[in-house]
Amino acid sequence: MKVMVVGGGGREHAIIKAIKDNPKIDKLYALPGNGGIAADAECVPIGAKELDKIVAFAKENDIDYAVVAPDDPLVLGLVDLLEEAGIPSFGPHKDAAIIEGSKAFSKELMKKYGIPTAAYETFTDMEEAFAYIDTQNVPVVVKADGLALGKGVIIAQTREEAKEAVRSMMEDKVFGESGSVVVIEEFLEGPEVSVLSFTDGETLIPMISSMDHKRALDGDQGLNTGGMGTIAPNPYYTPEVAEICAEEIFLPTMHAMNREGRTFSGCLYFGLMITKDGPKVIEYNCRFGDPETQVVLPLLESDLFDIMLHVTEGTLADADVRFSEDAACCVILASKGYPKSYEKGFPMEIPEDLTGVYVAGAKKGEDGVLYTNGGRVLGVTERAATLKEAIDKAYASASRIHFDNAYCRSDIGQRALKALED
Ligand code: AMP
Ligand code: GLY
Repeated sequence: MKVMVVGGGGREHAIIKAIKDNPKIDKLYALPGNGGIAADAECVPIGAKELDKIVAFAKENDIDYAVVAPDDPLVLGLVDLLEEAGIPSFGPHKDAAIIEGSKAFSKELMKKYGIPTAAYETFTDMEEAFAYIDTQNVPVVVKADGLALGKGVIIAQTREEAKEAVRSMMEDKVFGESGSVVVIEEFLEGPEVSVLSFTDGETLIPMISSMDHKRALDGDQGLNTGGMGTIAPNPYYTPEVAEICAEEIFLPTMHAMNREGRTFSGCLYFGLMITKDGPKVIEYNCRFGDPETQVVLPLLESDLFDIMLHVTEGTLADADVRFSEDAACCVILASKGYPKSYEKGFPMEIPEDLTGVYVAGAKKGEDGVLYTNGGRVLGVTERAATLKEAIDKAYASASRIHFDNAYCRSDIGQRALKALED
C-alpha cells in the first residue's frame, strides 16, 4: 500500500516510526514532514492546511490510505475530501471533528448527555458575558470557541482580568474569528490526565494514560506551551478512575456523537481533570495528542497500522490492542524563548543509537545537517520497567543531543513520581 501521513511535527514522527515497518506498507509519504521525519518517510512540501493540494497529490500518486494527524485539516474536512476521492483515511469526518473545533459544541454535547465537565455558559454578546462574570467565583476560565493553537484559554484570577480576556477575544479579536464566541467556565482543580482512545463509533478502546506538562518552566510556571514533556502511564489514572471514565465519559461520548449523527472514527482524545468530585472533561481533541503520542505509541505492543485499518473499516472490535507494562518519559528539547520568540537555524547532532528521538521542528540543510527550525525542536523518549528509570534514561539521552539555544524543563515526571510515592 501507498500511505501518506499528513502533518509535520513530533507526533507525526512518532506515528510514522510506529507504522513504517508494517509489511503492508510499500511506500510512506509525509506531508509536509520535516528534516528529521525525512529519515523515515519521503517528505512532500505540501502544508497540512493545503487541502486541495493534498487531495491532488493523493490522486496523482495513487495513495491507498491516509493518516490525518493534526487538528486543522481534520476540522476543515480533509477526511471527507479524501473519501470523496476514494481514499480511506484514519481520522474523523468534519462533522465529528467539531468536538475539538468548537468548544461551544463540545460543552453543549456534554450538558445534553450528562457527561461530567466544568459548569459553563456560552456568549456572543460582550455585555452579557460581563454580567455573567459578575455572578461567578474566581478564578474563572475564559475560552475562545474555535481552534487557537492551545492558547485560547485564560485562567483569570480576578473578574476584571476575566472581562479583559473576553474583551481581547471579542473586540480585539486576538484569536481571530475563534473568539467571536466565548465560553466562560468554572475553574476546576486536580491533576490532569490525557487518555487517547481508538474508536470506530461502535467500539472504544482507551490507550495507556499519560500526563502532559503544558507550562514552559519548571514547577508548572511560565506560559502555556504545546507541551514540554510527557510520561505514561499516569499514576492518577487508577483502575477505579479508569472504570468511572469508561462508564461516565468515554462510552457516553461515543454514543452521544452517534445520536447526534456525528459518528466519530479515529483517535478521540480525552483531556481529563481528576477533581474531588470525580473525573471531569477539560477538553476533547479529535486527534492524537502532541507530545502524548511520543510516550503512548512506544508502549504499544501490537501493530498501530493494523489497528488504524480496523478503525477505518469499522471492525475495531476485532483489533489487537495491547500496551506494555513499562513506563515511558518524553523530554522536549525546545528553543530558548519558546513559546514566545526564539532564534532558530542552529545545527544539531543526534547520536544514531538514540531510537526514541521524535523530531518536531528541524530542517535539513544542503550540507545534510539538521538545523533547528521551530519552538519545540524534538522529543526524546525512553521506556523502562519503572517511571523513575524511564525519566532518568530520557534525561540521559537528551543530554547527549546538542544544539545552541536548547532548553528543556528539568522536572518532567516529578509530580507523577511523587504521586507514586504518596
Ligand atoms: P484546553 O485548551 O481547554 O485544554 O485548556 C488548556 C489548559 O487550561 C488545560 O490543560 C488546563 O490546565 C487549563 N484549564 C482549562 N479549563 C480549565 C478549567 N475549567 N479549570 C481549570 N483549568 C482549566
Ligand atoms: N498535548 C496536548 C494536545 O495535544 O492538545
